Amino acid sequence: ARAVRIGVCGLGTVGGATINVLARNGKEIAARCGRPVIIEEVGARRDNPDCDTSRLKVTPDIFAVANNPDVDILVELVGGTGVARDLVLTAIDNGKHVVTANKALIAEHGNMLFEFAAQKGVTVAYEAAVAGGVPIIKSLREGLAGNRIQWIAGIINGTGNYILTEMRESGCSFAEALGQAQALGYAEADPTFDVEGIDAAHKLVIMASLAFAIPLTFDKVYTEGISRISREDIRYADELGYRIKHLGIAQRRGQGVELRVHPTLIPQRRLIANVNGVMNAVLVSGDAVGPTLYYGAGAGGEATASAVVADIVDVARTLEARPDQRVPPAGVALHELGETQV
Ligand code: HSE
Repeated sequence: ARAVRIGVCGLGTVGGATINVLARNGKEIAARCGRPVIIEEVGARRDNPDCDTSRLKVTPDIFAVANNPDVDILVELVGGTGVARDLVLTAIDNGKHVVTANKALIAEHGNMLFEFAAQKGVTVAYEAAVAGGVPIIKSLREGLAGNRIQWIAGIINGTGNYILTEMRESGCSFAEALGQAQALGYAEADPTFDVEGIDAAHKLVIMASLAFAIPLTFDKVYTEGISRISREDIRYADELGYRIKHLGIAQRRGQGVELRVHPTLIPQRRLIANVNGVMNAVLVSGDAVGPTLYYGAGAGGEATASAVVADIVDVARTLEARPDQRVPPAGVALHELGETQV
């Protein structure tokens, strides 16, 4: 079958890793899509030394990728809500599907983007926007679709959890731990988003919108970060038998849904108290299934690329070839399609 052609915009930690994963696992990905996935064009202003783009077409103009008629799926890994928003709007307007890891964009502009995408008959997929490599979006949308969700609670910022873990285990300062998280490629471009709870609030509203079928309401989240937590706080918590974890919590309250992110004291024996480093863990409770737990790397290039590529595969599976490029599906005789030659 015809290859699925993607345009990758942004060549940072996640963009570089996405290109590497697509190259490394190309055979498996092609088998799962039923056709190869090829990178038609890359839009990036800067080079990424961790990925080889020598055989790819690279342009510094990301909008050229969104306007490239040969691109079926635009993969937005630029980040932020300015240029990225215009880029995604351009791609949708051009009838392209979009895969994005951008939680700020989805949390703040998702309602409008989804509506526009629906008008244009395209998909905006965003598994990578929440909890890095943990397939929590697919779990909420598909795996738990039969439930009335009661609550969600989770460690959903890898950088913050890494900092709290390092401060406790290595005794390093907040600033040192944040520096390490940045060096490892976990932190946002502006790490204020990580340490002030904004990134977690973005992710919480995205999950809540799926779990409770509500619009994205980022401005309604009570948001508190970890920037005021000291080593002493962590030590006292330890002595009392607790761990300090930064949680995002969404739960039904009467007719509404309560949304909050803040540091929490959790008894040490709890599973979630022992989620350390960059790992994320999300608990979701549904009326039929009861409590369920999703765990894995919540940040970092390869883990996030895992989710980006999963969305590419998902979209590619459902992609209709243009009529002029349609090939006979397996098992259908050519004459049934009006062909004269056999
Ligand atoms: N900065 C984010 C985090 C990246 O640390 O969780 C993954 O969304």
